[in-house]
Amino acid sequence: MSVRLRLAALGVAAATAAAGLALVTAPAAVALDNGLARTPQMGFNNWNATHCSGDFNETMVKGIADLFVSSGLKAAGYQYVNLDDCWALPARDAGGNLVPDPVRFPDGIKAVADYVHAKGLKFGLYSSAGTKTCNTAGFPGGLGHEKQDAALWASWGVDYLKYDNCNNQGVDAVQRYTAMRDALAATGRPILYSLCEWGQNQPWNWATSVGNSWRTTGDINDTYAKMLSIFKANIKLGQYAGPGHWNDPDMLEVGNGGMTDTEYRSHFSLWSIMASPLLIGSDIRKATPATMAILTNKDVIAVDQDPLGVQGTELSNANGLHVISKPLAGGDRAVALFNENGTPATISTTAAAVGLPKALGYQLNDLWSHKTTETAGKISATVPAHGTAMFRVHAGGAWWSNPPAVHTSADLPLPYPGAPALVQPGTTTTLTTTTTNDGVLPGLLGEVKLTGPAGWTVKATSPTFHPVLPAGRDVSTKWSVSTPADTPPGSYPLHVSTTYYPGKSTSDYDLTVSVAAPLTAGTTGLGDDPWLSADNGYGPVERNTSNGESKAGDGHPITLGGVTYAKGLGVNAPSTITYYPAGHCSAVTATVGLDDEKTGAGSVTFEIWADGNKVADTGLIKRGDPAQSLHADVTGAGLLRLIVTDGGDGNTNDHADWANAQITC
Ligand code: GLA
Repeated sequence: MSVRLRLAALGVAAATAAAGLALVTAPAAVALDNGLARTPQMGFNNWNATHCSGDFNETMVKGIADLFVSSGLKAAGYQYVNLDDCWALPARDAGGNLVPDPVRFPDGIKAVADYVHAKGLKFGLYSSAGTKTCNTAGFPGGLGHEKQDAALWASWGVDYLKYDNCNNQGVDAVQRYTAMRDALAATGRPILYSLCEWGQNQPWNWATSVGNSWRTTGDINDTYAKMLSIFKANIKLGQYAGPGHWNDPDMLEVGNGGMTDTEYRSHFSLWSIMASPLLIGSDIRKATPATMAILTNKDVIAVDQDPLGVQGTELSNANGLHVISKPLAGGDRAVALFNENGTPATISTTAAAVGLPKALGYQLNDLWSHKTTETAGKISATVPAHGTAMFRVHAGGAWWSNPPAVHTSADLPLPYPGAPALVQPGTTTTLTTTTTNDGVLPGLLGEVKLTGPAGWTVKATSPTFHPVLPAGRDVSTKWSVSTPADTPPGSYPLHVSTTYYPGKSTSDYDLTVSVAAPLTAGTTGLGDDPWLSADNGYGPVERNTSNGESKAGDGHPITLGGVTYAKGLGVNAPSTITYYPAGHCSAVTATVGLDDEKTGAGSVTFEIWADGNKVADTGLIKRGDPAQSLHADVTGAGLLRLIVTDGGDGNTNDHADWANAQITC
């Protein structure tokens, strides 16, 4: 019997559908009728910050509740303070009840819930739809104890349950999660029900009537690559989300330190335009002002919490440049322009493409700079590497009372699209700034400035002053930028600033350029050599081991066809590692294949690129194929890329090794 049929057989109280459903393109199933999560839930969960460490205790939870009130998080809409795994003891008591860990929670769970409630907040707890939770210590799960556990939680004042999927004994997921839904309902207490079965049984097809949200993927971690891959999976599921029943791409990592603030702004923007639950996953007692500014951005939160309750959809994603649009109550559209790549790019769409009605002018509210401009219809931004520009767009109104939407980009000549912007010490680089006016009205008295780091010489070689920035057109300025000979390797900002009238409006932008150390002379192992960047499907690229999929150092000895290699690179497709031979190297050699540690079907290709040219390609390598020797002539290459593709069949099981990879310089 299919999942859908089984759902019908459950005889869910379908007739009581919430009226809000009419607003969204929801599937036939009816939303869980507990009245909760009419907009995506907002709050905190300790897991991403603490896992099961000793930091997870009553003091922490109370401290977070205090901060919710004192730091403005509560005012910004965050409501739930949730405990994850490891709050209980490994054994139930003689009466079969769960017992709070007395070291972490000496006053019990009810006391903590009372504390949270006294702050005007709500309290959440965790369990698993299995015999034990996910932690290896094995805390008791809810399978077979649904009624007793739900009643206990309700007596403690629990308002939210996250229900995990570990140790489920192969019992049908719909049955397990429905049993807990019914047990929660039977308590008579409204308890938000968050399913966490990682998308394994396509919960979007059946959980609308079971839970208020369902995880769509495996666990997030604090890396840009993981955040990106979860975004790509979750964005496709928009049609299933709506008031009371949301796709959950997992909790926020904002503030945990593994991504830049630009990347965290993207994470927050993307989660919000996907109408995702916003559960803070960092220890905000230690948050930087930048972290707090991201988490309390009310304009972005308003997109997430928009009462229409529609998840954004992706209009295009050509070459990693994503355009996402979300209809809002009252007719506005939220638009996110997300640059997945490692180099800045201009991303554009139009008011018509995002579904706005025809108008002479539109108001463009930038949700990160909080500036409002007018546009004739183009929605464009110069977006930094891994960054996101986010707007609320309104058709008509007093658009003419705002300055025209002007943005300036800076372009260096690059050996291939997406190449890192490198400058060499002791040389002069030519670059071009281009200022574009997307408005209906002209900009006046436009002036472009480019400033570099102290000691760098920046000179305009064509006019920087443009009396008129005509509507719908662009103007350019050429610059020469000299990098001092003693500049050490690192990243350096070049700041581009445009001012224009009316209102002495500004448009600012940082182009980051890098100085890199070339690879050293001789034949060296690429597993030990410094790289410029390393992107990977799961977890980080590993040096001299296979890929372990989640954190640095979690791989195993590289093994291909029974042979173990001490050196090399372990990746998971899709992966790109970029090195800087700087024209001084001649050859790359490696033995490549799928690591023996995985047995399931998988396929990849290995490619070597010298600047914009592919100089070696294995073709498709499938599980069971012998390892291949690869040799590439890279003479004169400024940049070298080792690329592994997923072979066209997804990237599960794609542990790919560049065994004994060496370069001769
Ligand atoms: C699973 C869940 C995580 C977290 C841990 C706790 O991995 O997906 O979100 O709750 O269990 O052990």
